[in-house]
Amino acid sequence: MDKLVIEGGTPLRGEVRISGAKNAALPILFASLLHAGPNKIANLPKLVDIRTTFALLIELGVGIRKDAEGASIVDGSTLLSDTAPYDLVRKMRASTLCLGPILGRTGHARVSLPGGCAIGSRPIDQHLQGFEQLGAKIELTGGYIEATAPGGRLKGGRVIFDLVTVGGTENLLMAATLAEGKTILENCAREPEIIDLADALRSMGAHIRGDGTSVIEIEGVDALGAMDHTVMPDRIEAGTYMAAAALTHGDVLLQGARLRDLDAVMSKMAMAGVEVRREGSGLRVRHHGELHAVDVDTSPHPGFPTDLQAQFMALMARSSGSCTITENVFENRFMHVPELTRMGADIKTRGNTAFVRGVDELTGATVMATDLRASATLVIAGLAAKGTTEVLRIYHLDRGYETIEEKLAALGGKVERQSQ
Ligand code: UD1
Repeated sequence: MDKLVIEGGTPLRGEVRISGAKNAALPILFASLLHAGPNKIANLPKLVDIRTTFALLIELGVGIRKDAEGASIVDGSTLLSDTAPYDLVRKMRASTLCLGPILGRTGHARVSLPGGCAIGSRPIDQHLQGFEQLGAKIELTGGYIEATAPGGRLKGGRVIFDLVTVGGTENLLMAATLAEGKTILENCAREPEIIDLADALRSMGAHIRGDGTSVIEIEGVDALGAMDHTVMPDRIEAGTYMAAAALTHGDVLLQGARLRDLDAVMSKMAMAGVEVRREGSGLRVRHHGELHAVDVDTSPHPGFPTDLQAQFMALMARSSGSCTITENVFENRFMHVPELTRMGADIKTRGNTAFVRGVDELTGATVMATDLRASATLVIAGLAAKGTTEVLRIYHLDRGYETIEEKLAALGGKVERQSQ
């Protein structure tokens, strides 16, 4: 298994191109199942999660190729199977997002119960309740979810989510595009990735209004046409490089990063004393001097994203004061805390709150990556630490960050991948 060896202490400087957003690309790839023909998707990031999704789509009978400009052509002409098997779903939780499109298109889908990141129990009850509101019968047998629409087609209906769920909103949104009649989804997630998915669906001829608000209306159609879509830039990757630039006292231009996706993060960065401003088609991040301690509470968009909680904690670990970081979206998402502590951070947790007291210096150590964002956090902490840090078990990183060691090396970071 690969590890990253990081020599800390060099400020990151230069430009980095922000890749296509993983969390937009995954549902959009699954949405391509809604059309019985070729779809064009540009700006897909090169990630293990995307390869896992390709493998699942191929298993379902979909053809995948590249066009002359490098966009992916995902051809759903020949959907041969409606079953997403355990072997593929266990590698990536987001595989459950194929349920909505397959059910919407064929009236029947079988998907293994998910695996994925070890951040809490992460049920999908809201997805399943939503499908039931659209008329589906749901059965759980042999570790598989089996969803069947009587008569072969879902019926439009009203779904009120009990809690705000990104995946649940996406799954229902996709399924409803081909349902008979009108669907109203209430208490929806408002993440930018949902707007990107809705844009992709509209390019196929779907009738959707209200995405980006908590109420989404979908007028079902009999068939969808070809998708033609360019995936939005990854706001979480941008936020991660922002934290890395700030923590190393660097000066980095994030090419392609969009300010409008990062409002809550920008506001906390500004309070911490990090300079972020728009420059050309990107964002310039600069920091020198002290970092101020700032309290953070994660919440669904437009709140502070849970996917940047760990990275912000690394920043606060080097701040000049004390703060609290409260995780409200996932249970058990503080697995980076003991690892940061091994690097000299002063952090205690009680329940879903971390109490962070800033220290003058982080020191290199051998640490273990436990989930995707925790892994990135240990890397950026290592870049700012004194001495050498080894981040073990980095396979999570490759699920979500395109060529991270190359991008960091291009910014002057001393990062090397080694096989153990
Ligand atoms: C997506 C993102 C993930 C991000 C998360 C929250 C993708 C591929 N992943 O995950 O990176 O951290 O949004 O921004 O886009 N819940 C239930 N029942 C359900 C569904 C969710 O109880 O049926 C709970 C979850 O356990 C969690 C919370 O709701 O505590 C939010 O989960 P959700 O928004 O669904 O996250 P994902 O879509 O899995």
